[in-house]
Amino acid sequence: MPTVKNSLTVLAFLSFVNADAIYTKKSPVLQVDSKSYDSLIAGSNHTSIVEFYAPWCGHCQNLKPTYEEAAKSLAGLAKVAAVNCDEDSNKLLCSQMGVQGFPTLKIIKPGSKPGRPIVEDYQGPRNVKGIVGAVVDKIPNHVKRLQEKDLDGWLSTSNETTKAILFTEKGTTSAILRAIAIDFLGKINIAQIRNKETAAVEMFGISTFPTLVLLPGGAKDSLVYDGEMKKEPIVTFLSQIVPPNPDPAPESTKASSSRRPKATRPSSSSSSAFSEASASHKSAEASEAAASGSTIVLEDFDASESPMPIVPPSETPITVPDSTPPLRSLVTLADLILSCLDPKIGTCVMALLPSQVDADATPPEPVAQALKSLALIAEKHVKRKAKLFPFYAVPAENEATEKLRDKLGLKPVTELEIIAMNTKRGWWRRYSGENTDVVSMESFIDAIKLGDGKKESLDEGVILQPAEKEADHDEL
Ligand SMILES: *[C@@H]1O[C@H](CO)[C@@H](O)[C@H](O)[C@H]1NC(C)=O
Ligand SMILES: *[C@@H]1O[C@H](CO)[C@@H](O)[C@H](O)[C@H]1NC(C)=O
Repeated sequence: MPTVKNSLTVLAFLSFVNADAIYTKKSPVLQVDSKSYDSLIAGSNHTSIVEFYAPWCGHCQNLKPTYEEAAKSLAGLAKVAAVNCDEDSNKLLCSQMGVQGFPTLKIIKPGSKPGRPIVEDYQGPRNVKGIVGAVVDKIPNHVKRLQEKDLDGWLSTSNETTKAILFTEKGTTSAILRAIAIDFLGKINIAQIRNKETAAVEMFGISTFPTLVLLPGGAKDSLVYDGEMKKEPIVTFLSQIVPPNPDPAPESTKASSSRRPKATRPSSSSSSAFSEASASHKSAEASEAAASGSTIVLEDFDASESPMPIVPPSETPITVPDSTPPLRSLVTLADLILSCLDPKIGTCVMALLPSQVDADATPPEPVAQALKSLALIAEKHVKRKAKLFPFYAVPAENEATEKLRDKLGLKPVTELEIIAMNTKRGWWRRYSGENTDVVSMESFIDAIKLGDGKKESLDEGVILQPAEKEADHDEL
């Protein structure tokens, strides 16, 4: 029986069911869809972090305050965006990005070719500090760190191009200056010079640090900025000579939009793809980043903030309210064939119940939980009028289950097995997780919906031909 606390959790959970996007228009989180993804994210010169989520996912709801806080901290430095993978029109994008569960966070950094970013899974802690730190670390550095001996050379190359120099006491390049250099990429060349380089400091008559000097192209008089070291006023100051790049780029000049990366396969493989890509990345940016180490100082970043971890699945008690319709039971072989095994059936999900579950006894906890989880997921889809393949409970008394388990190489009939099958397409897959809570079950169902994950191909023998059904009634 659900306790009061559990029922409240269920109510809270169900209240998300009809929710649209998690983030409102006013949210600091940028909402991106399959149409805008290329121009806003893939084609940007800025680094982005993108959350792929579903509105009904409890962990996504839990992440929201943290993610919005991260978006505020990263404002002007990097893009913090979210894609609602529950929208039909976004499903292909989510699947191409290798999304297998919600929420999935990916950091998308411009590559050496426009529109071909480097995508990496974010697997760090889901707190503001972790997210902001990881994103800041991936902001490209186009700022040249100059020593006196290089100053003349740097000033005389492309002498018609506007330049800016930050005189600073710091040896590292701030995230703000990196972001500004990206805004003005190709328009203003930006460098920084340390206060120790006294000849350069004297040459420009600098007496306080930091000071930003703007050198309009073609030997016009230089302009000195000594306002606050904040992004907005600096951009305004620089814009009096050259406006920043419009981001997103205007339609006509937009980077080819059809070239979405064959997205990085998830997790482990994508991070190795990333290191490979950066290792072979020969641009000045990469070598400079390598020379300076990858640590970037974000001055106003509060490193003492306490982590706010996401509640792990096992701590998310969700019970089915009594009104949730239970799964349909496939008691007879005929039921099983008509519902799942006939060759014309699409995807169906079966919970093959263990033999000790008899009709009158209360099933063991994981089995009861699996049935409740599936029932709840099915009900949510019904409430949202969303299409979903059917879920069934198959009791061990159904004479076919033992043979089915045998053919598929599943555990013996004393164990619970949850499988999905599509006879029309000839595949099946097994739920191999330990947990049967709703969040774990939902990731399994989502992966099937997105067509992700490993599928086994179905042997001929499992799919019954109509003739066989007649002739050989209990052969499977
Ligand atoms: C820019 O450089 C070119 C040669 O590369 C030179 O002819 C020209 O005078 C320079 N212009 C300025 C303003 O220094
Ligand atoms: C990206 O940078 C290039 C210069 O390298 C610039 O031409 C282009 O407009 C920038 N794109 C955007 C979207 O800012």
